[in-house]
Amino acid sequence: MNNRVYFFDTTLRDGEQSPGATMNLQEKLRLAHQLEVLGVDVMEAGFPASSPGDFASVQRIAAQAGDIQVAGLARCVPNDIDRCWEAVKVARHPRIHVFLSTSPLHMRYKLRKEPEDVLRMAVEGVKRCAVHTDNVEFSCEDFSRSEGDFVCRVVEAVINAGATTINLPDTVGYAEPEEYAALLDYVIKNTPNSDKAIFSVHCHNDLGLAVANTLAAFKVGVRQAEVTLCGIGERAGNASLEEVVMNLHVRHDHFGLTHKIVTEQIYPSCRLLSMTIGQPIPNNKAIVGANAFAHESGIHQDGMLKNRETYEIMTPQSVGRTESSLVIGKHSGRNAVRSKFESMGYTLDDTQINVVFEAVKKLADRKKTLHDDDLMALVQEEIYRMPDRFRLRHVSVQSSDAGGVPPTAAVLMDVDGLERSGAGFGVGPVDALFNVIADLVGREPTLEQYAINAITGGTDAQGEVTVRLRDGEVSAVGRGTHPDIFVASARAYVNALNHLFKKEQEGPRLHCQHD
Ligand code: KIV
Ligand code: ZN
Repeated sequence: MNNRVYFFDTTLRDGEQSPGATMNLQEKLRLAHQLEVLGVDVMEAGFPASSPGDFASVQRIAAQAGDIQVAGLARCVPNDIDRCWEAVKVARHPRIHVFLSTSPLHMRYKLRKEPEDVLRMAVEGVKRCAVHTDNVEFSCEDFSRSEGDFVCRVVEAVINAGATTINLPDTVGYAEPEEYAALLDYVIKNTPNSDKAIFSVHCHNDLGLAVANTLAAFKVGVRQAEVTLCGIGERAGNASLEEVVMNLHVRHDHFGLTHKIVTEQIYPSCRLLSMTIGQPIPNNKAIVGANAFAHESGIHQDGMLKNRETYEIMTPQSVGRTESSLVIGKHSGRNAVRSKFESMGYTLDDTQINVVFEAVKKLADRKKTLHDDDLMALVQEEIYRMPDRFRLRHVSVQSSDAGGVPPTAAVLMDVDGLERSGAGFGVGPVDALFNVIADLVGREPTLEQYAINAITGGTDAQGEVTVRLRDGEVSAVGRGTHPDIFVASARAYVNALNHLFKKEQEGPRLHCQHD
């Protein structure tokens, strides 16, 4: 049996579908480039029929891609399949990923179709894909709650119709590793033409078993794993790329499987994602959390000093937890700044270099050494911000613990190109700031979440603020960074308002598990 595992990353599709993980086009292109550097075999760039915005971003990602395969998701209906092909066909190696539910529950209540109709739709859908390309993936949605014999019939028929990858997901995160492996094994052994396709799994983490289920699947011959960076995805998320990869890597003795992920790119990739979506990596997250390599207990420290292997099963370097040596500070020139960004994977044009160079100088006035994370945050702030309807210019706040003197904030900003200013009070300076800004833009959204994180260590670290706002049915996340946490908070709030406004204009998007 072939011992090579293919990694299919769906951070840009299933991941982006998770609450608060929405990315703009620039951000998706940057992450797509990083996935290629990381060495994933296939990236799922989006769900082209779900919205015009998704179509456009899948098309741009496909056009930018090098040797990586670029997949688009489609329901098993002609229009989705054709839209998907239109979006991915410019890639060097395009793939159509088509899905249809096979569980009795989904067929009856979601699709309202008889099993025989589902079988026919699956074959017709795959045949339509095969007219466009010979790289077709078929997914049996809700496979883990499906009947083995019915799945065998569907899989045999879609392979005959042209599917080359068969994905058998645990869509609702319900499976237990042994039973999932047994069902997969049954389907692989009882489908007469199963040797003509690569079998794949896509596991959700509702019971915390996504990685365990993925690893169990390898034992019965599955050779494609669908994963996301940091495990982001619908609800509790998907199997995390870094955990699955490092299991294969560290426990090669156990699995005996190979892959082509560049493990040293794992941490930079996860950090880029976390910066982009404004969700800090939890400290205790396996492989990439701040504490993953920190040895606090005296006994462990002592052991580590004597021999690292006493308590360390992999090195931080093996997952890329190192800073690059080119340090940027106050005296760095334009060329040094350009090559630093290039070494971090950012290709910036001359205008963008001018913008970041000015921002680097300003930041270096406040902060002596700029770390990679500072620079990443700076590109995020200065270059990847979408064209904004609301733009913050200056803020000033006063906090107070004296009764009778409430905290105050004053704000100067542009609203639809017109300069507006105002001042007001709040229970604290952040509340005062948000009240003034809401007043200036004439909206009253609810603040659902406010989080602050220091980007690097030290008291001069930049603050990274994330806020989630809701207005009626629509919610949006905004991010802001600055050495002054009040400025970072105001930036995050204004950014969330811009996202809210954009989402309202675009209308609802289809999410594959919701329609
Ligand atoms: O969870 C799922 O089943 C999916 C499919 C579209 C593969 O995301
Ligand atoms: Zn999924």
